Amino acid sequence: MRLDDLLFSQGFGTRRECAGLIAAGQVRLAGEKTTDPALDVTPEGLAFEVSGQPWTYYKTALVLLHKPTGYECSQKPKHWPSVMLLLPPPLRQRGVQPVGRLDQDTTGLLLLTDDGTLIHRLTSPKHHVPKVYEVSTARPVDEAQVHRLRGGVVLDDDPQPVRAEGCEITGAQALRLTLVQGKYHQVKRMVAAVGNHCEGLHRSAFGALTLTDGPAPGQWRFVTDAERAALMAKPPR
Ligand code: URA
Repeated sequence: MRLDDLLFSQGFGTRRECAGLIAAGQVRLAGEKTTDPALDVTPEGLAFEVSGQPWTYYKTALVLLHKPTGYECSQKPKHWPSVMLLLPPPLRQRGVQPVGRLDQDTTGLLLLTDDGTLIHRLTSPKHHVPKVYEVSTARPVDEAQVHRLRGGVVLDDDPQPVRAEGCEITGAQALRLTLVQGKYHQVKRMVAAVGNHCEGLHRSAFGALTLTDGPAPGQWRFVTDAERAALMAKPPR
């Protein structure tokens, strides 16, 4: 692939702008400045720098963002800035979008991608990708609430009960819920359905991905190919 085409595919502007960046000496391959836009490169796994910033080539982008509070996942946010503002321009230019949504006041692991098939694969309940939520509640939690959350509760927009795949008490006013669906305000509505109230919500895992090793709130990183494969692997049922 031509180097200017590679930069174009990764969101660095029009083909002409990408060729301009290269000709201006803003692009480095293995630390070496290269000024030939037509240079033939092997894209898979290619590490490159643009204006001093390191990047890796990904045919489709899948990024993990540690969402802080105060951001909306909508592309056209109404009251708060969009999470897209936490990503650098090339990723926005590539058209990455959130894989499902987290509320403005929810923190934690948010995936974004420019691969529509992947969005479907990761959000469809059929594929059973578990999402883990750490909930702090307004009132004490008890085994009866856990039992109901695991057994299934009916929400106001659907007669079909929704159940938590997993639910454990993690503190006097704290629960860990594992869900495989992503209905609107699902955790908050499920917790309300058992007579409690969700005061704080953090998503700690999405499939095999966690935030244990970062990034910090407000920061992002690419999901590696190995992590992507783990995410797509069929979970044990
Ligand atoms: N469930 C909710 O209620 N809110 C979120 O942000 C995510 C899941």
